[in-house]
Amino acid sequence: MIYLDNAATSFRKPESVYAAVDHALRRCSGNPGRSGHKVSMLANEIVRKTRLLCASFFNAESSEQIIFCSNATDALNLAIKGMLGPGDHAVTTSMEHNSVARPLEAMKKNGVDITKVESSSVYGTDPESIRKSLKKNTRLVVVTHISNVTGTVNDITEIGRICRERGTAFLVDAAQSAGAMPIDVREMNIDLLAFPGHKSLLGPQGTGGLYVRKGIRLSHLKEGGTGRSSESLIQPDSMPEGYESGTVNVPGIAGLGAGISFIDETGIDKIQEKEETAVRSILDGLSSIKNVTVYGPPAGHPRGAVISFNIRGMAPQDVAVLLDAAYGIAVRGGLHCAPDAHATIGTLSSGGTVRVSPNYFTDENEIESFIIAVEEIAVDADE
Ligand code: ALA
Repeated sequence: MIYLDNAATSFRKPESVYAAVDHALRRCSGNPGRSGHKVSMLANEIVRKTRLLCASFFNAESSEQIIFCSNATDALNLAIKGMLGPGDHAVTTSMEHNSVARPLEAMKKNGVDITKVESSSVYGTDPESIRKSLKKNTRLVVVTHISNVTGTVNDITEIGRICRERGTAFLVDAAQSAGAMPIDVREMNIDLLAFPGHKSLLGPQGTGGLYVRKGIRLSHLKEGGTGRSSESLIQPDSMPEGYESGTVNVPGIAGLGAGISFIDETGIDKIQEKEETAVRSILDGLSSIKNVTVYGPPAGHPRGAVISFNIRGMAPQDVAVLLDAAYGIAVRGGLHCAPDAHATIGTLSSGGTVRVSPNYFTDENEIESFIIAVEEIAVDADE
């Protein structure tokens, strides 16, 4: 099988990730932060070390600023609902995933006012349009780093600078960028960073996290045991335990730690370079096929490893099914849970796009096979 659906979840993981999950589950499956016995301490050590790795990977002030979550959606919900309340205003863009758009929409019934600025699928969001939409009561700006539909990259540092200047909190959805390009929360003026563990960070599904800048206070979405202050019926605000009630996913967090270590050892620049080469080959190949439309930034423009296209006369879902069934190539077809992004690029009413997303492990032969397959499907569609 040729796996080109890494934007949904990365499939091939480094061997060290499989080994770390296996080891944690077999040898360290105590409850971290709860009991004082040896396996509990081993589990605690895994969580502590991975938290440190995450903090250093994103250049957070300290590991306490990293809350483990079950995925980026979980982290985004915590950040959005934990920040906003009645009378607040929030700003977002027209290229967001439903993991941003839906929690924001849900907050409207809590008296939150939302502005969606129009974003370009080629150039990204104009930071000035964010500045113009800020009001006195704007409490949060939420922007995706890389679009999960078109791979468009937003100028996070500049948007963050504007938010800092105005004292508005800035939340970045790093679903497609964490592990694929360097992120420095301090240099990039990021207050909250939601990241999945199972995509470019190469960890298992069910992992992710939220970085929260020191000084920012979130309300809780859930209450429960924290392993500390057990005598109190009031949920503690302590970071990060106050936001991690319930037993955390120790085997998953072990795998996430191994994934981040792999990226650190390989070098994120090398990973980014390899993915850029894969993207260039795919764009070159697709642009040479008659009846194929590619969306988003053209070749030579900054873009993440996410490419959307359509074949004239064919529904994207049908192309994805055919690629899988006849060629053993895994891609994703449809709206990719991002209807606003499809409205922006004009593919909402026609069923979306076919999305192809390589990663560090994708090789040239796989890309060649994919291009040949699309070529054959496009010729058949034309007949
Ligand atoms: N957010 C994931 C995607 O874009 C699931 O496919």
